[in-house]
Amino acid sequence: MKYRVVVCGTGTEVGKTHVACALLGHLVSVGEGALGLKPVESGVDGESETDASLLARRGGTRDIGACFAFNDPVSPHLAARREGRAVELSAIRLWISEHDAGWQVVETAGGLLSPLSPKLTNLDLTRALEPTALVLCAPDRLGVLHDVTVTLMALRSLGLESRTVVALSAPAIADDSTGSNAVELTGLGIADRPVVFPRATFESRGTQDAAAALAARLTDLMSPTL
Ligand SMILES: Nc1ncnc2c1ncn2[C@@H]1O[C@H](COP(=O)(O)OP(=O)(O)OP(=O)(O)O)[C@@H](O)[C@H]1O
Ligand SMILES: [Mg+2]
Repeated sequence: MKYRVVVCGTGTEVGKTHVACALLGHLVSVGEGALGLKPVESGVDGESETDASLLARRGGTRDIGACFAFNDPVSPHLAARREGRAVELSAIRLWISEHDAGWQVVETAGGLLSPLSPKLTNLDLTRALEPTALVLCAPDRLGVLHDVTVTLMALRSLGLESRTVVALSAPAIADDSTGSNAVELTGLGIADRPVVFPRATFESRGTQDAAAALAARLTDLMSPTL
């Protein structure tokens, strides 16, 4: 059985790479073949560590970079324009199919509705990838009830909401809502039992338990890719 999990977010810097890396680490620890993939990445300047390399390290695979890597640390549509290039779904689909694995964990760039080109967003990319399941990452802080609501509405428009597990990642600085948002999201009927990642290292018990819980939820949801 092949699994393709698209990791999307309510925005940028919300914990997508952290959650994807924790999930990859768990999958590898239980003997699953897993590959982290970052199809589009900006801010690839040859100096800063890339999401692609972080995903590779946690998955224990070599760094294959991104299908579309751009230098400037701005929205991919803008970074691409500055380089006279364009993100194309067909190229990403081919690149993903060339990197086969039991579990493909695919991290998108920025938020679900962030533009990849004048006519493409991560929502279009997500649909094109035909995921078996999705992880929607959001920070465990004030504003998340709104942000998860609207992002799930966008996924619902494509019939993908029922395949989505929400993951909340603890922010560097907690606010008065941190720790209560998962219960509120469930109680308000916005998202069913989000998985909460503490502010902690990959080696911590809390992170490993959250990653195991996320993997179990995804396995429950998934049907094989075509
Ligand atoms: N639960 C957590 N515990 C510890 N550190 C975290 C956690 N969540 C996020 N971080 C850290 O916060 C920063 C931003 O998180 P991350 O890189 O995962 O966000 P992102 O959504 O992938 O961002 P981007 O949109 O740039 O890809 C990183 O330095 C990451 O290591
Ligand atoms: Mg990231």
